[in-house]
Amino acid sequence: MKKSPSRPKLKLRYKTISRDQIDQVRPLWEALNRYHTKRSIHFSKFFETFTFEQRLKKYKSRSVTVRIDLALVSGSGGKGAKERAVGVCLSSYDGRKEGRLDTIYVEPRFRGLGIGSAMMKRALKWFDASGVKGRSVSVLFGNEDVFPFYSRFGFYPMRYTMLTKGKVTNRPAKNKR
Ligand SMILES: CC(C)(COP(=O)(O)OP(=O)(O)OC[C@H]1O[C@@H](n2cnc3c(N)ncnc32)[C@H](O)[C@@H]1OP(=O)(O)O)[C@@H](O)C(=O)NCCC(=O)NCCS
Repeated sequence: MKKSPSRPKLKLRYKTISRDQIDQVRPLWEALNRYHTKRSIHFSKFFETFTFEQRLKKYKSRSVTVRIDLALVSGSGGKGAKERAVGVCLSSYDGRKEGRLDTIYVEPRFRGLGIGSAMMKRALKWFDASGVKGRSVSVLFGNEDVFPFYSRFGFYPMRYTMLTKGKVTNRPAKNKR
């Protein structure tokens, strides 16, 4: 961690919670979703209507192994003396040991203190310990400012994913031959 987050009276600790406790993540996940809504160049409407419940589907699925890390502060950095979560990192890997960093978010006033880096290190260490082979993270088109943060951990952009806007169906069109 480059800068000490332990400013006077600010107590910071990290905690890994279980899948059953994922509701603790909701406020931070929703803040990230609002951030994506503002940042997205073409898909703000998608994020506007994307819900935590929809996101939870993956995290409730037994086909992926998940890890949920929280950064908690107490003291003058929190509301009163009560400890509260100011950062979250969700990571997962599938049966082929493909690892994904699904979500990372730190509340604006706690950024630049090394919290994001500390959570990244915890997730990457977990991948190593779990024998995860591939690692990836998707970055929103419009949020490229975050690239330098990820490149510190060896992640670089490889390709753009292009999606159609509006209602999309996977069903093949009726045969009009
Ligand atoms: C990305 C994020 C989690 C990093 O958390 P953090 O606690 O601020 O990270 P750290 O303090 O460990 O590292 C901060 C470094 O990353 C850089 N960085 C991180 N996000 C950045 C951004 N959006 N633009 C520019 N620089 C950024 C900072 O400039 C800083 O570099 P410095 O130390 O040279 O000043 C946090 O900025 C955040 O929540 N951003 C908004 C949500 C987001 O974009 N999440 C990623 C979704 S793919």
